Amino acid sequence: MTLLPPDATPFSASEIAAIRADFPVLHQQVNGKALAYLDNAASAQHPRQVIDAEAEYYRHDHANIHRGVHTLSQRATDAFEAARHKLQHFLHARSHREVILTRGTTESINLVAQAYARPLLQPGDEILVSRLEHHANLVPWQIVAGQTGAVVRPIPITRRGEVDFEAFRTLLTPRTKILALSHVSNALGTINPVAQFIAEARARGIITCIDGAQAVPHLAVDVQALDCDFYAFSGHKLLGPTGTGVLWGRESLLEAMPPWMGGGDMILEVSFEGTTFNTLPHKFEAGTPNIAGFIGLGAAIDYVQGLGLARIAATEEELLRYATTRLEAIEGLSIIGTAPHKAAVISFIVEGIHPHDLGTILDQEGVAIRSGHHCAMPVMEFFDVPATARASFAFYNTRAEIDQLVGALHRARDLFT
Ligand code: ALA
Repeated sequence: MTLLPPDATPFSASEIAAIRADFPVLHQQVNGKALAYLDNAASAQHPRQVIDAEAEYYRHDHANIHRGVHTLSQRATDAFEAARHKLQHFLHARSHREVILTRGTTESINLVAQAYARPLLQPGDEILVSRLEHHANLVPWQIVAGQTGAVVRPIPITRRGEVDFEAFRTLLTPRTKILALSHVSNALGTINPVAQFIAEARARGIITCIDGAQAVPHLAVDVQALDCDFYAFSGHKLLGPTGTGVLWGRESLLEAMPPWMGGGDMILEVSFEGTTFNTLPHKFEAGTPNIAGFIGLGAAIDYVQGLGLARIAATEEELLRYATTRLEAIEGLSIIGTAPHKAAVISFIVEGIHPHDLGTILDQEGVAIRSGHHCAMPVMEFFDVPATARASFAFYNTRAEIDQLVGALHRARDLFT
């Protein structure tokens, strides 16, 4: 990875042992073997600090937020809003008003598509979407294109699995209104040089929506430095609870956007004659949110920042290098996605074994990976494969777990050949 400060050092074996002690779920047997959890791109595991923060809230402070004058409601509101401020600083956002709390990346991007793009797009307008995207950063654009008469245009990718910058430039026209791009590909691990794409788009007044779901657990993200317009991510890939997510948006755009969902908390005054909407960020947060979840996400950010993202990235880079070397040595195994800048994700196929069979055999050996199209069917189509197996590493993984993966792959080959 290129974004590492030069002085970042991977965690030592004793530091990893101490870190692993924080993750209760890692210490179990699956099918009689020690669990090797290598499916972190799908969902990362939770340290006890996150689990405890949620449990403490339920034990002592649970009440609805923004609604009660009683003590518990105020405590809950304070803890929930404190998490928003942590998220603001985590993203280096100018204001907490720009931090909209959602259910996840998918909801965040749908919000942009429906509340920003739908009122703006005219028939014939163009939305550029890279071929590398997760369906969450493609389907919402297809839906809004269908609603408005706009057109979704794919940005090609290269054989290494990188978004083709030169091809992107040739696709830009006066009708281009939106660029949708992932910071890190979930299917292949490619780290896209998003700042370069954003600068090009911004120079032409094109709005940018970045899917950061796979980036925030591994890279320091500064939305002001990136200069994008929208940045979305999910809490559960960042050691936080499922059902939590963030949409960061440029304040001027959020101010101008109509609300998406109507309901409680997003209003100031309601009558049958008309409704006045709440100020940012509440205008986009209808209904009771996942209060405990965001408190847990705040604890996850504390945890990650306590370890340091630079050391996390250095540790994961080392795991990626080791795993790549070991997997490349397996006969019949091909890695899909060979960009020079990758997060700790390896997508691969093994000759003669369907990825789903591979996933099942590996599970028998205690190894958890994901197999399938990874919600990125256009990527599979491009590489002409129905699916891949995908191992994705977090800083709490070890070389021993990678050795366990390699051993299990050899056993799978023995079974099938
Ligand atoms: N988006 C998640 C993944 O890549 C679920 O596995």
